[in-house]
Amino acid sequence: MRTLVLIKPDGVARSKVGEIISRFEDKGLKVTALKLMRLDKDRAERHYAVHKGKPFYDSLLNYITSAPLVAIVIEGNNCIDIVRKLVGATNGAKAEPGTIRGDFSTGIDFNLIHASDSEDSAKYEIPIFFEDREILSLERADKDWL
Ligand code: CMP
Repeated sequence: MRTLVLIKPDGVARSKVGEIISRFEDKGLKVTALKLMRLDKDRAERHYAVHKGKPFYDSLLNYITSAPLVAIVIEGNNCIDIVRKLVGATNGAKAEPGTIRGDFSTGIDFNLIHASDSEDSAKYEIPIFFEDREILSLERADKDWL
């Protein structure tokens, strides 16, 4: 199973990339693709197509294209649910302490991170950011213990 994580422009600008990736690695998940990139408008529109027409859509596109982000493919047992739990509620003010948003975000506009919310979403979102050949097959040295 795979999921897409984006460390959004605020997470990159605030130098939280290492800390955020550590949380997934510490949990026992695998990073199988990783890219620092500036998202163009076309890809941003595809990624956030479900939010088109919502009041926050235009500001969301401005935010996500405003500066570099880090796109990550994460794999592992139950990775979609586990990553969503580690990320926390969408609104940083409501996210539990101990989650990424709960620890680093105070609101909903700048919430540091995106994670696919289902297998269907992951299958739609991952190809927006990665070609198949960019997602590598690798094993953790501790795989028998995870
Ligand atoms: P994300 O998980 O990337 O999915 C959509 C993003 O829209 C969300 O995180 C927030 O960054 C942003 N957003 C801003 N306002 C809202 C809102 N009212 N509801 C949901 N998402 C919002």
